[in-house]
Amino acid sequence: MRRSSLRTSLFLISLLFAVLVVGGVSLTTYVVISEVVAAAAHDAAVRASMRVADIAKVRVTDAVLEAAASGLTGQERDQEARRLFFRDVPAIFRGGGQSGVEVAFYDETLQPLWFSDERALTEAEQERRRAIVAAQPVESVYVDRPPLSGMFGEQALDTFTIHVPIDLPDGARGVIDVTYFPDLEESIMNQVRLPMLVLALSSALVMVIMIQAGTGWMLKRIEHLRAAAESVETGRLDVQLPVEGNHEIAELARSLNMLMSRLRHRAAMQTRFVADASHELATPVAGIRGYTGILRAWGAEDSEVRDEAIAAIDRESRRMARLCGDLIALVRTDQAGEAEAVPFDVHELAREVMASALTRYKDRGHLHEGPPGGALEAVGDPSRLEDVLSVLLDNAFKYTPPGGKIFIDTRATDDVVTIEIGDTGIGIPEEDLPSIFERFYRSDESRSKSTGGFGLGLPIAKSAVEAMGGDLAVRSARGEGSVFTVLIPRDLSREQR
Ligand SMILES: Nc1ncnc2c1ncn2[C@@H]1O[C@H](COP(=O)(O)OP(=O)(O)OP(=O)(O)O)[C@@H](O)[C@H]1O
Ligand SMILES: [Mg+2]
Repeated sequence: MRRSSLRTSLFLISLLFAVLVVGGVSLTTYVVISEVVAAAAHDAAVRASMRVADIAKVRVTDAVLEAAASGLTGQERDQEARRLFFRDVPAIFRGGGQSGVEVAFYDETLQPLWFSDERALTEAEQERRRAIVAAQPVESVYVDRPPLSGMFGEQALDTFTIHVPIDLPDGARGVIDVTYFPDLEESIMNQVRLPMLVLALSSALVMVIMIQAGTGWMLKRIEHLRAAAESVETGRLDVQLPVEGNHEIAELARSLNMLMSRLRHRAAMQTRFVADASHELATPVAGIRGYTGILRAWGAEDSEVRDEAIAAIDRESRRMARLCGDLIALVRTDQAGEAEAVPFDVHELAREVMASALTRYKDRGHLHEGPPGGALEAVGDPSRLEDVLSVLLDNAFKYTPPGGKIFIDTRATDDVVTIEIGDTGIGIPEEDLPSIFERFYRSDESRSKSTGGFGLGLPIAKSAVEAMGGDLAVRSARGEGSVFTVLIPRDLSREQR
């Protein structure tokens, strides 16, 4: 429903756009063409008036000469000259003398003397009077058309009348009205209109089709993305969006594919984590159930069996409690927000952790060295760093046979504090190194030694170090020992800013 309404609104927008663009272009073109044609018509009117005036002047001279030759004098001669002039005028100016031109002659009292056509008689008395007084041509508008009238109906251009003063053969001053009717220009405009209309409509149509094709193409791709999002919602993460080309939508599809593959990876990790955790929990539970059965069967009679079973149940339940504690610690390091940034002494913290590990492993006879004396001031999250050092020292003691050596060393610059925790223990096989930070991973060696770990210490340490904006790395060789290197910012508050 929503999709089709998007399509409809895009269609309406494209239609509006096409109409506005094509309409605007057509209108401008029309206005420009009609301005040019109107200017040409005006020029033609002015030229026609000049020609009429020239011809009339020649005729006046001829009529005056002819009247003088007739031997008449005074007023009679003048009247004869005027008669002779108007005798010839109709022949010369019939039909205006040239196409589209109509003329009308007026005497000094502005009475019409002769006109080529009714159309030549205009109302412009004011302008005629002004032409006589100023003794120069005056222009008036015969027909004034609204600017865009010709766009929708028959073309009609403005029509001008030029009022030209003329000295009549009897010496009086009259006026010739020369009106140019731009029929030719109008017919040109009329012929242009239809092709222009067809061109405008077809370009609007092409525009709408092109915009529609473009939006259709885009909507199809968006539809793919939507389908992918929908399948994620229903729990399917194996969708691959088609990535064609190099445009923004392809980029989006590529990012979504990457997101999907990250989600797949995360989901797989989650599943594995739950499976591993259940498996780890199942072992002590099975032990407890087994010993409960033994207790029930023989516990009452055999006190030795009973004590052994109770001790085993105690051991297994402790193991379960420890696993639950580790799992909670892991979830906490994953979810804990930003690390704290308080001033503390790295050396003092390391000494405390070392002391506590020594107490736990006191009867194993390990040698130990470090951390260095004095203070190493830093700003950071001491409780997270304590977790990290405990995990690493615990491993160092656990995976180093009695008599081996454990050490802590530190280095610091203005920016970074480096803490190295090393041992001369069993070391980590090279093929295991990439995996030891994974949850529940234990190298075969430690599994077979059944040191009792779950493979959760290093993942907890790693995520705590990363929460502090640092890094945890390892160098190790089988049988030679291991060195874990913790890098953390010297001043975490500066990093967090
Ligand atoms: N200092 C070390 N020397 C040798 N092997 C080590 C050392 N530290 C870690 N490992 C190896 O890396 C594996 C993962 O260590 P991690 O601390 O995560 O788990 P764990 O010690 O087995 O169990 P947990 O810490 O959960 O009790 C260990 O099983 C061990 O094989
Ligand atoms: Mg460990």
